[in-house]
Amino acid sequence: EQTVSFYEQIGGEETFRRLVRRFYEGVAGDPVLRPLYPQDEEEFARAEERLRLFLMQYWGGPRTYSEQRGHPRLRMRHAPFVIGERERDAWLKHMGDALRELNLPPEQEKTFWDYLVYAAHSLVNA
Ligand code: HEM
Repeated sequence: EQTVSFYEQIGGEETFRRLVRRFYEGVAGDPVLRPLYPQDEEEFARAEERLRLFLMQYWGGPRTYSEQRGHPRLRMRHAPFVIGERERDAWLKHMGDALRELNLPPEQEKTFWDYLVYAAHSLVNA
């Protein structure tokens, strides 16, 4: 018997592509968050790819993120950015919008959302 990863259950790469694309559209138009992210358009696009690959790996998909970036060390990688409650809540708002637009079954949406809330709270550093 084979275990199907959560990554596969929710639709694989295409689902993560849609989620993170929608999230970064939100970031691009957000006056609180946009200044934290790379100003250069190409680098901004690469940031989208980094988050997508991380989330795919986290949920049991391909390990491309770590092949390219090594151990995630998310707290360390976020240390250069001032992340207070305002930044956290803006980040979660765009993720919540993006996640709901996927129209996943409620139980899967909740699994994903609970993780994002937990992770975002753990990255507040200011
Ligand atoms: C990178 C902001 C929460 C995962 C970044 C970057 C910024 C940022 C400005 C740099 C963009 C880049 O060049 O890659 C924030 C803010 C958050 C937040 C304001 C609010 C709490 C999260 C959460 C996760 C996450 C909850 C994971 C679930 C990542 C990853 C990267 C990243 C994987 C790329 C790391 C790398 O390989 O360099 N974040 N982030 N972030 N963030 Fe966040």
